[in-house]
Amino acid sequence: MKRLLITGASGFLGGHLYTLAKTSWQIRAVFNNHPPQSLSDEWIQLDLTEQCQVMKCLEKFQPDVIIHAAANSNLDQCELNPEMARRVNVESTRMIHKAALELNSRLIFVSSDMVFDGRQGNYRETDPVAPISVYGRTKVDSEQILQKSEGNYVIARAALIYGRSIIGGSSFSMWIENRLHMNQNTPLFVDQYRTPVLVNNLAAALLELAENNYTGIIHLGGENRINRLTFGKQLCAVCNYDEGLLLTVSMHENKTAAPRPVDVSLHTGLARSVLREPLMNTVDGLRLMCGL
Ligand SMILES: NC(=O)c1ccc[n+]([C@@H]2O[C@H](COP(=O)([O-])OP(=O)(O)OC[C@H]3O[C@@H](n4cnc5c(N)ncnc54)[C@H](OP(=O)(O)O)[C@@H]3O)[C@@H](O)[C@H]2O)c1
Repeated sequence: MKRLLITGASGFLGGHLYTLAKTSWQIRAVFNNHPPQSLSDEWIQLDLTEQCQVMKCLEKFQPDVIIHAAANSNLDQCELNPEMARRVNVESTRMIHKAALELNSRLIFVSSDMVFDGRQGNYRETDPVAPISVYGRTKVDSEQILQKSEGNYVIARAALIYGRSIIGGSSFSMWIENRLHMNQNTPLFVDQYRTPVLVNNLAAALLELAENNYTGIIHLGGENRINRLTFGKQLCAVCNYDEGLLLTVSMHENKTAAPRPVDVSLHTGLARSVLREPLMNTVDGLRLMCGL
């Protein structure tokens, strides 16, 4: 069996990656502060900001592929603490990339649609990046570390990820579902557009990239461009929640520490030609999420 190391395996996306990959790969799943409920020998505690620990672990395991999904992806925390954001998001990527080059491992780096400024939308892999937040800047800086080398790497830019967690972490759709479940009013932006991708769908696409020979940047988003309010309405319709609890809000009326781009929808034509895994639209994704 080939060896796969997953960073961020205790998180939302990483938990799905681990669960999907564990029967076909020999795995090392990295967590830091949140161990999974059922710990096995596959799991390893590692602070990715500690260079020696990271190098030792990688040299011992000799992974064929590394999926680097760990990050601090909280936009506001990153904006308020750029030093921390840089250490966790950029310096960890620098180290993992260095190790991947030394060990001849394929590296799949999970980046974000937040590398764009959101003024255009429908972004292709060739469009220039222009982040407007500290988080977005850390993803661009990480991407550039990989791009400066001749290594065997993929920069997978994920859109907004939705779905239910199976090991840890959380998603914006879980936040919506929790509130609706408790009959609480749920404010959703009407003026921010993304191409949300179901976490199961994204995990399968990343594992396909782990095995094929594509290199370079690739956009992984769902089939449709949508704002959060419309997404919420679809969620209510598909999963049978009360749509009357949804409140329309503008992101311009809500002050957040980090600025939010208006339209970071991703063009996913390249992924559709490279991958067998079909990237679903939100209605199909929500149906799958709700077990329909
Ligand atoms: N969520 C989205 O909508 C979205 C959209 C686009 C791109 N992305 C990217 O997708 C990836 C996964 O996102 P997610 O939502 O699944 O994140 P998440 O649930 O917040 O999980 C983050 C993971 O990173 C790990 N981590 C953080 N700091 C670490 C450190 N110093 N050392 C080791 N591990 C550390 C955490 O480990 P512990 O919890 O054990 O400490 C956790 O497993 C990230 O790279 C994110 O930037 C996310």
